[in-house]
Amino acid sequence: MKFINLFRLVGSELAVDLGTANTVIFVTGKGVVVREPTVVARRKKSKELLAVGGEAKKMLGKNPEEIEVVKPLVDGVIADFDAATDMLKYYFRQLSQHGGIIPRLSGPKVLVGIPSGVTEVEKRAVQEAALSAGARQALLVEEPMAAAIGSGLSVEKADGQLVVDVGGGTTEIAVVSLAGIVINKSLRVAGSEMDEAIVKSTRLKHGLLLGEATAEEVKMAIGSAVPFPSEKSYVVRGRNLEKGLPKSLKLVSGEVREALAGVVREIVAAVAGTIEETPPELVADILKHGIVLSGGGAQLYGIDKVIAEETRMPVWMVDDPQDAVVRGLAKLLRNGKLLEQVKVTRGLR
Ligand SMILES: Nc1ncnc2c1ncn2[C@@H]1O[C@H](COP(=O)(O)OP(=O)(O)OP(=O)(O)O)[C@@H](O)[C@H]1O
Ligand SMILES: [Mg+2]
Repeated sequence: MKFINLFRLVGSELAVDLGTANTVIFVTGKGVVVREPTVVARRKKSKELLAVGGEAKKMLGKNPEEIEVVKPLVDGVIADFDAATDMLKYYFRQLSQHGGIIPRLSGPKVLVGIPSGVTEVEKRAVQEAALSAGARQALLVEEPMAAAIGSGLSVEKADGQLVVDVGGGTTEIAVVSLAGIVINKSLRVAGSEMDEAIVKSTRLKHGLLLGEATAEEVKMAIGSAVPFPSEKSYVVRGRNLEKGLPKSLKLVSGEVREALAGVVREIVAAVAGTIEETPPELVADILKHGIVLSGGGAQLYGIDKVIAEETRMPVWMVDDPQDAVVRGLAKLLRNGKLLEQVKVTRGLR
């Protein structure tokens, strides 16, 4: 009897944040067991999987002709169904073999986060990917709702709360009240667009072509939305566009901030626009609580300050912002009543 209980409890419930940039998997009783970039490497012809996660990300831009390095998600939604399924299958299998966590025959019940405002087809794809990867049941929850719950907000109350999750592919902005999403905006502009902006500006200004991964490093090291107390610099290596040869260059934080300004402006304008569309009673609630900021992209230095200034509202950055969605999904695994209220669709197999 004890064994069966343990089997059911520890065995079969997973929360999956299938993000554009990172995949985070939580297992009941174990905590977060996977936190890896959403990237797979496979043979082009046979589609045989060669590497997943961090290992695959290292191959980006360095792969020979016969190997392709794929990002299964673009702008928050599945762009390559087989790659997404193979990646999940790989993780589910790893968990069942090494940790003995997942009972192989019954498969796990899986909660997966999806961006708000995606199409039925896009939702279906996420659910199908989880089921094809071996899930016994796949339930979907909108990411802003999961982020709100993961940030510790009491979403069931008649009390408006504004959540902004800046991820890799999408910025999710939502007003949550009474366990529902009252207003939402899903902007397909987030961390990746910041990287692209750095690539573009370095090409135009210095005639130097940077790889995507290098641009992301620059963003994390010296990127910001407001000036740093003292200017920072970062040395990059790229390809000189004129001569086609490698070249080193010192980038300074001021120029990176300028490069990022457009993307930051778009995100801030979307937040302000959402507040404008929010009914006055809820705006009063939001003013009382402040705006809750989560997601990896929200860690861009000073983006909280810019949002606070533009909206004239207090802004709170969640602890470990990159894990807010998976934390919310994990809480829902323990709270069946709330899950019933917030889940999007049900897929049983
Ligand atoms: N310190 C930092 N400064 C700026 N950006 C950062 C920092 N740390 C991480 N990021 C960015 O956060 C993004 C990833 O965030 P997150 O893991 O929340 O995205 P995701 O959930 O995979 O994507 P999405 O929710 O859009 O599908 C990446 O673009 C990454 O470069
Ligand atoms: Mg996310």
